[in-house]
Amino acid sequence: EKNSVTVEVPINIALIKYWGKRDEELILPLNDSVSLTVDALFARTTVTVLKGASEHEVSVNGKLQDLTKSSRYSRLFAEALRQRRKRGHNESESNGSVGVHFKVTSETNFPTCAGLASSAAGFGAIALALQELFSFDDVEANRMARLGSGSACRSMLGGLVRWHAGESDDGLDSYATQLFDESEWPSLRSIVFVFDDMEKKVGSTLGMRRSVETSALLPHRALVVVPQRVEKLSKAFEERDFETLATVIMQDSNQFHAICLDSHPPLKYLSESSWDFMVMVQEFNDSMGAVLAAYTFDAGPNACVFLEKTSVANFIKFANERFCLPQKGLDEVREDYEIDEDLRQNSSAKYAASCVVVSQVGGGPRLISSD
Ligand code: DP6
Repeated sequence: EKNSVTVEVPINIALIKYWGKRDEELILPLNDSVSLTVDALFARTTVTVLKGASEHEVSVNGKLQDLTKSSRYSRLFAEALRQRRKRGHNESESNGSVGVHFKVTSETNFPTCAGLASSAAGFGAIALALQELFSFDDVEANRMARLGSGSACRSMLGGLVRWHAGESDDGLDSYATQLFDESEWPSLRSIVFVFDDMEKKVGSTLGMRRSVETSALLPHRALVVVPQRVEKLSKAFEERDFETLATVIMQDSNQFHAICLDSHPPLKYLSESSWDFMVMVQEFNDSMGAVLAAYTFDAGPNACVFLEKTSVANFIKFANERFCLPQKGLDEVREDYEIDEDLRQNSSAKYAASCVVVSQVGGGPRLISSD
């Protein structure tokens, strides 16, 4: 067995959203969801096996996590050790608190708690490192990621990924698979606009519980709308039909936020800037005479736009006239477009984004080192 593994696992952005659980303990969702992985934003995580230690230790961006407050880590670690025992490693686990524990050090290259799926990358990375340490198979590791955070199971794969809700009570059939790998649509890009990196008010876990308990629209979404959308989106992806893909993406984002508003008390994740952003995307598409960009919003005000590489420069230019965009985060793709510095300095835009990141779409997790 290895002793220490470092991996990089990117965030993923859902095109068809996961919202609502059928089992909160096992993190089993009510509906399938589909996502794309956003390469440029990731968690770099090292998991080290501590033999003889009395507790686990997790730090995220230099901050030690209180593991008594979050059962997510304990659940994931317990499952990993259970699977490991099943493979015949029995040593000293019966010996009270002394046994195998983990030290996790995780750094994200983007603000956490900004509705930027940081938990997906973080838990995905822990599960992948544990897989590498103990040679779990892909499905086992995927279920472990899910125990950390539902959306994390989608970050374990590149390309277009589908998390199957599954039907069984034990969750054995609830895991993510790849629908298409990243080479299927290499020109696809995402742009993440961070408008507000403040911690969101009601986290996803509590928010979706509220929706499950109170939204009358949610069952219709989960049972009727999502299955149709998953088919439509997969077909559009296969045919490289951007217009259909984009329309499904935007409609599903809209419906997710409609469910939030249908919850009681209502959940408000979109801000004024998010609304202006949606209008702007619509105007961009109108001005181009075709649907060339799709927006989507998770449980926070930040926007993610999907588009073809050839549309990136035009879209940034268009957005820059309406929002104040920073240079920050743009370095990697500088040859594609430029922020007009005059426009930026003299912008009378009502809203400013604090960070804009353009990324390729679809490349999955990376193993950095193991020993
Ligand atoms: C709106 O995966 O963060 O981003 O399973 O409770 O940890 P838990 O929730 P989480 O929820 C993500 C919700 C979403 C939509 C999505 O990513 O599918």
